[in-house]
Amino acid sequence: MKPIQVGLLGMGTVGSGTFNVLQRNQEEIKRRAGRGIEITMVADLDVDKAQAMSGPYVKVVSDARQVIANPDIDIVVELIGGYGIAKALVLEAIAAGKHVVTANKALLAVHGTEIFAAAHAKGVMVAFEAAVAGGIPIIKALREGLTANSIQWVAGIINGTTNFILSEMRDKGLDFDVVLKEAQRLGYAEADPTFDIEGVDAAHKATLMSALAFGIPVQFDKAYVEGITKLGAADIKYAEQLGYRIKLLGITKRVANGVELRVHPSLVPTQCLIANVEGAMNAVMVQGDAVGTTLYYGKGAGSEPTASAVIADLVDITRLHTADPLNRVPHLAFQPDAMSNLKILPMTDVVTSYYLRLRVADEAGVLAKLTGLLAEANISIDAVLQREADQVSKAGENQTDVIILTHDTREGKMNEVLAKMQLLPTVMAPITKIRKEELN
Ligand code: HSE
Repeated sequence: MKPIQVGLLGMGTVGSGTFNVLQRNQEEIKRRAGRGIEITMVADLDVDKAQAMSGPYVKVVSDARQVIANPDIDIVVELIGGYGIAKALVLEAIAAGKHVVTANKALLAVHGTEIFAAAHAKGVMVAFEAAVAGGIPIIKALREGLTANSIQWVAGIINGTTNFILSEMRDKGLDFDVVLKEAQRLGYAEADPTFDIEGVDAAHKATLMSALAFGIPVQFDKAYVEGITKLGAADIKYAEQLGYRIKLLGITKRVANGVELRVHPSLVPTQCLIANVEGAMNAVMVQGDAVGTTLYYGKGAGSEPTASAVIADLVDITRLHTADPLNRVPHLAFQPDAMSNLKILPMTDVVTSYYLRLRVADEAGVLAKLTGLLAEANISIDAVLQREADQVSKAGENQTDVIILTHDTREGKMNEVLAKMQLLPTVMAPITKIRKEELN
């Protein structure tokens, strides 16, 4: 059978990885897919460089629309990124009847509803394994492998840059700013790392996993997003003393009255496998009612790991190319006419436990006042750690850090208590609040 023909939009890191892996493993991929898969056309603004990378048999153009307009192209792979031209090109490819493979989490998390509806109407597939956790086949697991389950929650380290920074902060006892500069100098973090360090990239990925896990539309605008920029070395050290590590987690959870969708730094018990995921690695835990807890670990970025996911999508599409569109695997795991309208809860309704660090005057009754406020609000304490006085203020009084771990409570209630604590004259600095996840 004639090989399936692929057009690549963007010959950057992932594009070149896709090209290389497809060439290297072409025989085995063909045996799996049932026919050959060939990249026959590439669009890249740097035509000469892309041509040199692709070899003489690939047609390289600067205008992506030429790829979409080519009737021989069956699948368009969008590796441009962002919401702008990438969105237009994906919609144009769908309108032209092409299947689409994309690694663009930002595009799908924000405009997924429009894109999947267009693909459904046109009877084409939009595949996005590479959009979440790079080479880890987590989309496949959520959409197909775990399809028997009522999924209860998904929690993952889904941003390698921030996990690298947090690992360095813990290993070297350094603050965030210092490690970020070092990560940029070494080329681990982007020159503009905003999406990574502010949690936006992880929230795009968590949004996609939430839709797949619970059969709800993609709703990035409802996600709670908090990054790692305010974390200090002291909190990482105290967390360690209490038996926890701090990780930036993307969490989505089904609860009685809706779905939680949130990205924020979290204390995770040190003995938990995910707490030991270090450096730029990714890991995702999924809890299903039948299977229990499952864990997926691997490289969340990089040329060939991401290419591995892109090619898996190319093989899937090749296998299903001639199937009746109604009999294909639905884009978001659930049939489009069977989506749920479970609402995404506001953060004030999320129930979790907390790590609190308070800079207080080291004098009689301070701890009693703090614990009294928690007791009044019926918030139960799990552990308290008080350091020896370590600083003398201008007024001559001793100051110290008090760390309190709470049991589960509603965030809205926690915030009310924190507002009262903050007003106490013996609380000398803004209180640090970090959420805690036991993941069991
Ligand atoms: N910037 C992402 C990360 C990789 O650091 O994990 C691409 O999603």
